[in-house]
Amino acid sequence: MPAMPEELGEGATVGAECIMGLVTIIITNCPHARTANEWLWGKIWRKVKYNFDMRRSITPRFIADCITTTIVTYLGVGMVLDAFSGVGGQTASLLAAGLTVYACDIDAANVEHTKHNASAHGVGVLERLFIRCGDYFKRVAKLAARWLKEGTKFAAIHFDMPWGQEYNSNTYCLDKMGDGTMSAFNVLNVAASLADSFIVKCPKNVLIADVMKLADYLHGVKGLTGEAQMPLVEVFMSGDKTHMAVIYMGDIAVKRLADVPPAARVRDLTGTALTLEECASSMRAQAKGVGCAKVQFQARA
Ligand SMILES: C[S@@+](CC[C@H](N)C(=O)[O-])C[C@H]1O[C@@H](n2cnc3c(N)ncnc32)[C@H](O)[C@@H]1O
Repeated sequence: MPAMPEELGEGATVGAECIMGLVTIIITNCPHARTANEWLWGKIWRKVKYNFDMRRSITPRFIADCITTTIVTYLGVGMVLDAFSGVGGQTASLLAAGLTVYACDIDAANVEHTKHNASAHGVGVLERLFIRCGDYFKRVAKLAARWLKEGTKFAAIHFDMPWGQEYNSNTYCLDKMGDGTMSAFNVLNVAASLADSFIVKCPKNVLIADVMKLADYLHGVKGLTGEAQMPLVEVFMSGDKTHMAVIYMGDIAVKRLADVPPAARVRDLTGTALTLEECASSMRAQAKGVGCAKVQFQARA
């Protein structure tokens, strides 16, 4: 049983190199225990295609639609980048809601499957899909260089990087994604100038302090001064089971947070290293749907 945030005392002594920040967590209840296996295409699964090794990576339908609804509600029906688009679990949801989607994946079969799967969801959606096969770092860096000159931006960028073996660790290191060499910080760095709203799908064993560290890093690489805006984490649960989390940063977090009722009080988590799952489980045990935690972290160089 994870420690309840209010049992954690006053927190550790904070060294000069540490920064404090606040993170808000909301819990969203999934309709079924098997939500993680329920993909976007639901009853039309016979029409869709994916390679067997992608079956655990596809964004579940309920979660994909929650992300899409948040984008549409707070940013409107604009142009979104779905980075690391896989076989299109999120892309298909965004297209079905009327958004224009740029997408990128390194795997040629996944790209073909995304086109096919998106088209299974509606006539004409492919006219709003601009998908390329290639390495995210090369393709998006090239796009960022061009769009910076033009002043063009996406309404939002959705990132669903591969989680890799690191998912089996007790706590997930955001510098060891995919094959162990992909860093979420580097991923955000490349795309920082391309939007003001960022959405990162992440494992439940990410430390809550690392969410703030990521938001602080993004704030810095965007050249913004002062304190980083508070990130919002949406944790998806079925009963006591935690599926995964989605981190909202930038404008979309600010806008959605304005609609979230404030937490009863801020929990001091500066003295401990809790994962998102542990935070959410504690909240669930207290029947709380919204929590706010004070965390400490060392700024990313
Ligand atoms: C977690 S999956 C995305 C799943 C997707 N959201 C879906 O619903 O199908 C991560 C994807 O990242 C892709 N990928 C891994 N490294 C990449 C890179 N350097 N550039 C672009 N895509 C990459 C993989 O091929 C994989 O499809």
